[in-house]
Amino acid sequence: GRVAVLAGGRSAEREISLKSGREVHAALRKLGVLAELVDPAEVPVDTLTGFKRVFIALHGRGGEDGVIQGVLEHLGVPYTGSGVMASAIGMDKVRTKLLWAGAGLPTPAFYVAGSADAPALGFPLMVKPAREGSSIGMRKVDNAQELAGAIAAAQEYDDEVLVERWVTGAEFTVAILGDRALPAIRLETPNSFYDFDAKYRADTTRYLCPCGLDEVQENELKALALRAFRAVGAEGWGRVDVMQDADGQFQLLEINTVPGMTDHSLVPMAARAEGLSFEALVAEILLSAGD
Ligand code: DAL
Ligand code: MG
Repeated sequence: GRVAVLAGGRSAEREISLKSGREVHAALRKLGVLAELVDPAEVPVDTLTGFKRVFIALHGRGGEDGVIQGVLEHLGVPYTGSGVMASAIGMDKVRTKLLWAGAGLPTPAFYVAGSADAPALGFPLMVKPAREGSSIGMRKVDNAQELAGAIAAAQEYDDEVLVERWVTGAEFTVAILGDRALPAIRLETPNSFYDFDAKYRADTTRYLCPCGLDEVQENELKALALRAFRAVGAEGWGRVDVMQDADGQFQLLEINTVPGMTDHSLVPMAARAEGLSFEALVAEILLSAGD
């Protein structure tokens, strides 16, 4: 039967999703799978009943947040990745952090902008739209004068805005495939943080895999990422972003339930480090659909 690769959509990450989708589509074709690219911004989603499986390569709201997953549940078409609940939680950094904190997992202190009982977190701070991806709408804030402007900028993308304690230290990401964590990647950028430019445009971003941690620490990081993935009920595949603070403690930043699959992307890089080609990675994700 035919496989639909969903890509595009209407979120701020549309262009990234189109790139992910094209890569996934090309890989499926190479594998001999009868695959078709479908953009839900252009094609009514009820036509997906004609497909045997759906590979979701949509990033951001509408595609990564449980909405399309709910449609596919309703239509009875198996799809890749997390279900409705984990997708909805994972898209929302506030709910994800509340859930992790409740499960005793480490995540930087934060408050929701505008809340009456906001704790004093000092500076710098990180300001983020609650439900956005690829660092869109995010700003580092160095002093009180900059805070209101950063919150207003984030509110362009989401009414709910997260104000998080800044973590000084190394940034890592851990890809999850099925029930295992792939080798961790360390990210280094001369930018003030791993922002949109560092992610997709700059040639100054460094990706280290092996990540430079000793074996004990990398295993600790991978185990933490798996616990974080399971705590939100995520399935199939995903990626957990983590910082290591000045005390050496890992701090969970966020989970991506449909991580990027572009030629700059991290899950394919981690898979390669394990000897898994892009095509083999795509095949494994596709086969997990409907499990
Ligand atoms: N949100 C982007 C696509 C990522 O996490 O890779
Ligand atoms: Mg994200």
